[in-house]
Amino acid sequence: MAMMGESIAVVIGASGGIGAALLSALRADGSYGTVMAFSRSGTPRLDITDEGSVRDVAASLAPDVPTLVIDATGFLHDAAHRPEKSWRELDPAQMARAFALNAIGPALLMKHFLPLLPAHGRSIFAPLSAKVGSIGDNRLGGWYSYRASKAALNQLMHTAAIELARSRPQAICVALHPGTVATALSAPFAKAGLKVRDANTAAQELLAVLAGLTPADSGGFFDHQGQALPW
Ligand SMILES: NC(=O)c1ccc[n+]([C@@H]2O[C@H](COP(=O)([O-])OP(=O)(O)OC[C@H]3O[C@@H](n4cnc5c(N)ncnc54)[C@H](OP(=O)(O)O)[C@@H]3O)[C@@H](O)[C@H]2O)c1
Repeated sequence: MAMMGESIAVVIGASGGIGAALLSALRADGSYGTVMAFSRSGTPRLDITDEGSVRDVAASLAPDVPTLVIDATGFLHDAAHRPEKSWRELDPAQMARAFALNAIGPALLMKHFLPLLPAHGRSIFAPLSAKVGSIGDNRLGGWYSYRASKAALNQLMHTAAIELARSRPQAICVALHPGTVATALSAPFAKAGLKVRDANTAAQELLAVLAGLTPADSGGFFDHQGQALPW
């Protein structure tokens, strides 16, 4: 539990490349009195595919009231699944996994963590999305499951932002694109010529973007430089 009156930040997916960097940056920065970290390998366990664990962790925060919740979970590939280059490679199990981890899991975080945000005053809920989830920006094709599941995440976030504004007008709910960042998720695809940044740089940039947002930005999709991205 945090000290009374301390501001509280929560990082979910804190074991990941960007999540761990966000956690370090928030702890070093000191603008939040308490920074809590959750992951599926931590204690208490928070597995976004297990609603009970999401509900239990959210409930365990009371009476603390977080004013920043960042979701840095996500899935692009594993030993069994590579991003699809063609519709010929579409596989229901891969698609279901991408939607479970990139859209449904974050939606469960919205369900259980958005009600924790304060009724009054500035607060932020920010899931990490990806620019390849933008339909307007899609010129290359491929990566069907990842693109579609991140587009679904963006819609879920935007829908939740509208509902959130009714009870918490100062709250900000946005999807963020971290840029290409050197992590396990991007490693197999970091082609020569692609601008890959380290996770600490990305974390600093994302926190600077969040610091500059206002409630008028809620529901939006922003990159690591604060640029609004097309849906
Ligand atoms: N890296 C990039 O270039 C890039 C670009 C655009 C967008 N993004 C987005 O940024 C976010 C973070 O990516 P990253 O590069 O930091 O990837 P990462 O290092 O692979 O981290 C992914 C995180 O998601 C967690 N996770 C996976 N399944 C989970 C589950 N069922 N329950 C709870 N947590 C789960 C992982 O936990 P474990 O440690 O337990 O596996 C890990 O903490 C993702 O949403 C990704 O799509 C990244």
